[in-house]
This record gives sequence, structure tokens and C-alpha cells, in this order.
Amino acid sequence: MLRLGKKIGFVAGVILFGAVILSTRYYMVDVPVYHFFGHFLGGGEGPDPSALHLRGEFVESNLGAAQGASGSLTVRMIAQQFVFVPQCVEVPAGVPVTFRMTSADVVHMLSFLGTDYGLKVVPGAVTEATFTFAQPGTFKIPCHEFCGAGHYAMRGQLNVVPRERFAHMLPGERRTCELR
Ligand code: CUA
Repeated sequence: MLRLGKKIGFVAGVILFGAVILSTRYYMVDVPVYHFFGHFLGGGEGPDPSALHLRGEFVESNLGAAQGASGSLTVRMIAQQFVFVPQCVEVPAGVPVTFRMTSADVVHMLSFLGTDYGLKVVPGAVTEATFTFAQPGTFKIPCHEFCGAGHYAMRGQLNVVPRERFAHMLPGERRTCELR
């Protein structure tokens, strides 16, 4: 009886140990996990996290705010350990802004401090959401998903400027800003 109890204790210990490791290191395993399940979820056609800078929508020259022919605004950003690229984006107030984001490594979660808006960013997929920022202002964009050693320092910035101050953009122009 005692031996059985010891065995159960040992197994429980192993399971607990494994759970602790997983819960603190899951940011290191979620990329393969997402790739694995992506096939079943019909995804897997998203951008390759390791080739973002080489080809496709998220090459560096295409990041930032872009204006479409109809005047619509799209912001493209990459989240990666432990920065956003670009670190600062400028958009006009009172206009719907479509965010398209992906991750170069692990899962990140960002929020626009002072608003209800947030986004989860996953490697191998594009997260898209459209937000309208009613008032001009400076919104910090902290990361809320533990993504590694530099997680607590990971934050970008969104500058929302009055609509009339947001000059019309050229077709190939991408607008970013300096961190303040
Ligand atoms: Cu990115 Cu925490």
C-alpha cells in the first residue's frame, strides 16, 4: 500500500513538474504547436515567420501606415521579441484604421493603453482588426502576453493626430513616427 502511494506521489510529482515547466516556457513551444494545429484549422497559409523580412506583405518597406486608393488606412506591424516593428505608428483620429499584424517568433498580445482595443498576434498568421480612435492622443502599446525575458519592456506607440493634420499620403508612402 505504501509502495503504491509512493508511486502515485512520484507520478503526480512528474506531472506537476512538467506542468510548471510548460506554464513558464510555453512561449518557446507555441510556434510548433500553432504550426501543427494550423493545418487542422485550415490555416497554415499565413506568412512564414522566419521570412517576413525577405518577401510578402511584411517586408520592412511595407510596414507602417499606408493609405489605399479609396482613402482607407491600413497599418502593418510585426511583433517580435521584444519590440514592435515599427515601434511607432501615426494615424488620424476619427477614421477607421485596419491593423494587419503578424509575429516573427512567439505569441504576443498588445493593447492600446487608454482604449478597449487589443490584438493577439500569432506567428504564421495575420491578425486583422479595424479600430477607430475618436480622440487624438499618444497611446502606448504594451505587450500583455508573456513572451520571454524582455516581455516587460516590450511596448510600441500609436500617435493619433487630428484628421486635418494627417496629410494625404502618396501611394507608396508608409508613415511611422519617432518614439517619444
Ligand atoms: Cu511580447 Cu510579451
